[in-house]
Amino acid sequence: MKMISSGESRREGFSTGMLSPRRRTTSMPRTGVIAGSGFYDGEGVKVQELRKLSTPYGEPSDIFRICEISGKEVVLLSRHGTPHHIPPHMVNYRANLWGFRELGVERVFSVNAVGGISPRLEPGDLVIADQIIDMTHGRAATFYDRSEVVHIDFTQPFCHELRRTLIDAGEKIGTTIASAGTYICVEGPRLETRAEIQFFSMAGADIVGMTAMPEACLARELELCFACLAVVTNHAAGISEKRLTRAEVIATMKHSRERIKSVISQALSILPESRTCDCEHALKKAKL
Ligand code: HPA
Repeated sequence: MKMISSGESRREGFSTGMLSPRRRTTSMPRTGVIAGSGFYDGEGVKVQELRKLSTPYGEPSDIFRICEISGKEVVLLSRHGTPHHIPPHMVNYRANLWGFRELGVERVFSVNAVGGISPRLEPGDLVIADQIIDMTHGRAATFYDRSEVVHIDFTQPFCHELRRTLIDAGEKIGTTIASAGTYICVEGPRLETRAEIQFFSMAGADIVGMTAMPEACLARELELCFACLAVVTNHAAGISEKRLTRAEVIATMKHSRERIKSVISQALSILPESRTCDCEHALKKAKL
């Protein structure tokens, strides 16, 4: 397998833009999957090409791995790098999303570990988030911080078509998935206090995590479709009396991995060829 860096592809006469130097196996635009480390290692995934990109916003978290899954060309990225070494508040979200677009990705499935706030949720549960409350601060959260003034509509922060695809995928493989939930995104890396979780609960949040923002709004600014498959790895602080450990989060994630992979693989196989949602027109009427 060949590793191609962005510099190399320029030398070969390819732009780092929409075309890959290898022959595409399908004319359908690629789909991105961003997940934790080791998520798509191993069987069932044939990696065809590794792409190391550098972007105007710096280095993405990891190399991009171009694979075929369920007959679709997929670009995989490990959000926290390999090995897992980038904490959520230090992830270069802009470079990651920019990299996907450079590689011809139009739609992104994002897998995010979360704590469960809603009493209905147990570790191991899956939630397709439909709303976000953003409590992050200090992260580079826009591509428009220079001369252009852009106010992107974010009323519905996730692509309804991609969310529908994930919900249908869960039904098809017979796995229970909560079809909606409000994701509150905190800055981290510390976990929350009991009072914060009580407050978030009163505000209507169902799940708490550290990675969906600014990922979701950056995707919107690039007119990419974006949906979040949240994996409940623990009860949020104070919901259970047990103290949360990183080991618990890792163990639940590991335990859920095969199920998550099945949902994503099924979603990829039923994904419509082209988009009928509005995401590709997100910038229309957004520029002043
Ligand atoms: N809080 C914030 N982020 C998380 C949690 C949590 O309880 N679990 C996994 N990611």
